[in-house]
Amino acid sequence: MDLDEAYSVKTPEDSRRLYAQWATTYNETFIKANDYVYPRTIAQKFDELIPKSDIQTVVDIGCGTGAVGSYLANLRPNLKITGLDISPEMLAEAAKIKRIDDSPVYNDLSEVDLTVELPKKSFDAMISAGTFTHGHLGAETFISLIALVRANGWLVIGINSKHFSSQGFGVALINAHDQGRITQAQFHNVQIYGPKSPHYGDLATIAIFQRLK
Ligand SMILES: C[S@@+](CC[C@H](N)C(=O)[O-])C[C@H]1O[C@@H](n2cnc3c(N)ncnc32)[C@H](O)[C@@H]1O
Repeated sequence: MDLDEAYSVKTPEDSRRLYAQWATTYNETFIKANDYVYPRTIAQKFDELIPKSDIQTVVDIGCGTGAVGSYLANLRPNLKITGLDISPEMLAEAAKIKRIDDSPVYNDLSEVDLTVELPKKSFDAMISAGTFTHGHLGAETFISLIALVRANGWLVIGINSKHFSSQGFGVALINAHDQGRITQAQFHNVQIYGPKSPHYGDLATIAIFQRLK
């Protein structure tokens, strides 16, 4: 399994199939092998920029094996983290990971195809890395997911920068802002992979904003 295969998925069914095969080796063959630094970077941005007061619950979109959650739990030990993902095999890996105090990183994990349904829950904040990328979730789903965050809650969403440009994420954010649904987004361009990776130079755009209504 490699990056080309991940980028070649076209449908949620393709994702389910790909990640079913990849789940048990994903951390070794993808995260470690490619020096995938993005989950750590996004957790650090969240910790730096999102206020601590009033933020007790966060949902991790496309949590996979739980890399984002594990960094976030270290930085914000009191956060209750929910993970959502289409792949039961990836969720099973995320369920195994623990915090320093031996409690699970994820307080709740649910299998859901986010292109067709949203859980009936509300969170103080949302985070995501690696899920808004080629062949995975697009701008329409991105906008629908705002409904999972309470009014005045925060979203810290990483989007592959090429996917951002080709799939109209910028326009979708401007429209949502014009409709008074969200604050104006701030953007941070970050490396997805470390300097030793063959993919070094691939960028993600992290969009940070608040839901208004
Ligand atoms: C590249 S992985 C990223 C996982 C993790 N966030 C990370 O950074 O390691 C993308 C994840 O998105 C999930 N995914 C893809 N399509 C989805 C959908 N329609 N609904 C929910 N999750 C989906 C996949 O199962 C996979 O776990």
